[in-house]
Amino acid sequence: MVFFSGVGVCGGAIISKKHILTAAHCIRTNSGERKDPAIVYAGMADLYDTANRKQLKVASSIAHPQYQFPKNDIAILELEAEIQYNLYMRPICLPHGEKPSYDTTCIAMGWGISVNGVNAVTNVLQNVDIKVLDPDVCIHGYLNSQSKSSRDLGAILQTRPAMLCAGDLKNEKDSCTGDSGSPLACQRCDSCGWFVAGVVSFGPTPCAIKGVPGVYTDVVGYEDWIYATTGVTKETRGC
Ligand code: ARG
Repeated sequence: MVFFSGVGVCGGAIISKKHILTAAHCIRTNSGERKDPAIVYAGMADLYDTANRKQLKVASSIAHPQYQFPKNDIAILELEAEIQYNLYMRPICLPHGEKPSYDTTCIAMGWGISVNGVNAVTNVLQNVDIKVLDPDVCIHGYLNSQSKSSRDLGAILQTRPAMLCAGDLKNEKDSCTGDSGSPLACQRCDSCGWFVAGVVSFGPTPCAIKGVPGVYTDVVGYEDWIYATTGVTKETRGC
């Protein structure tokens, strides 16, 4: 996991020694201006614990060329130097074509806010287990929201873009502001190995609202773009 400030506070996942996967809205404002981080932090769970924390310099940031929030909300940060993997900094696998089936329990994580209304990051990395849900749950939830902006998001979800709907049907669990760009990690059917299935994109405000789950960029739909953009191949990917 990495932490950085771009458009807001965001997270990202290490996918190779030189590449971080994150959300495009973390590095582009809604009007399309660049807000590239110069540095990201890795190797810590507690943001202030410097024992194993490393500052990684960003060489370039690449948002998906068809990004227009919330569509194609995915981006790559290319690092100046290679990460030396250790116990604290290591990659998460890409989906390798796998998409979590509905009802799979996955883990969303990040340093985003943990109490609605308290607009401060949590110092210690949080995680929450949520289920991948039928997209209809999100379509229904957003279309029936109070706010016009949420209903607009519902209309976009109806076009079945590459997004995952994930949450907790009792809706006590959700990612939240500041978790953007962080991974939704799921386990493979066969090996149980972890992979980055989603990237935190958007959700209701306040978070964890009944009937309105979070929405995650569906990474498997962008795997070819990721390979083409990073130069990482099926042969050279770390895991
Ligand atoms: N765009 C948000 C961010 O700033 C992600 C919000 C996720 N919200 C949610 N209720 N799941 O970090």
